[in-house]
Amino acid sequence: MADQPQNHARHVAIIMDGNGRWAKKRHLPRALGHREGGEAVRRTVKACEKLGVECLTLYAFSSENWKRDEEEIGDLMLLMRRFIEANLDDMVKQGVKLKIIGDYKAFAPDIVEKLEYALAKTAGGVRTLAVALNYGSQQEIARAAAKAAEHGAITPETIAANLDTADLPPLDLLIRTSGEVRLSNFLLWQAAYAEMIFMDVLWPDFGEEHLQAALDEFAKRERRYGGR
Ligand code: FPP
Repeated sequence: MADQPQNHARHVAIIMDGNGRWAKKRHLPRALGHREGGEAVRRTVKACEKLGVECLTLYAFSSENWKRDEEEIGDLMLLMRRFIEANLDDMVKQGVKLKIIGDYKAFAPDIVEKLEYALAKTAGGVRTLAVALNYGSQQEIARAAAKAAEHGAITPETIAANLDTADLPPLDLLIRTSGEVRLSNFLLWQAAYAEMIFMDVLWPDFGEEHLQAALDEFAKRERRYGGR
């Protein structure tokens, strides 16, 4: 991982879309699509280590996902509990530090407790897995602006310093799977100069080869940050 070239992405974020369609294609319940989505998360976290991505941010549950039916929300919550239980030891072994963005305290008390336990257990990690939970970017920006206003002027710098992502490296690359081309209230501020890649693969099928392809595409792009 030492000496990555200039055009290497340090911080990659993914909108993990297509679990439902993956299940539908196989005449399976949506819950199984989400479960396979959890497997894709495991693979992708491993792939980040191998491919030298320092920080991975995943959109796991948006503030708008509460609109889904109760059964699906229940399935996602169960998956979250199981995911933490099944993966915490591996995360510690792999040197992954968990971070949560969004208002996770709105989840059930046992999930909040599990998440906080996982945050404490992984605090010594050297690479970051940031998971967006009950996250909405407009809400995050509004919260950050309000906090900035408490201490003085509202400027791009003071807003950025109060975002949930303030301690993460700048976002380099934003990937969305499943062929949809929109940001869905994810990292709107942070994506100002990020490269975006929309891939046709459904999230449960995502793996190292897709991440590699996205990083290769990123490396070819010329980033000018508004300059020439
Ligand atoms: C989008 O697919 C996916 C989600 C709303 C949930 C993402 C969650 C996971 C991948 C589960 C595991 C994650 C963790 C961190 C435990 P969709 O249901 O919108 O798919 P569709 O558009 O095809 O219906």
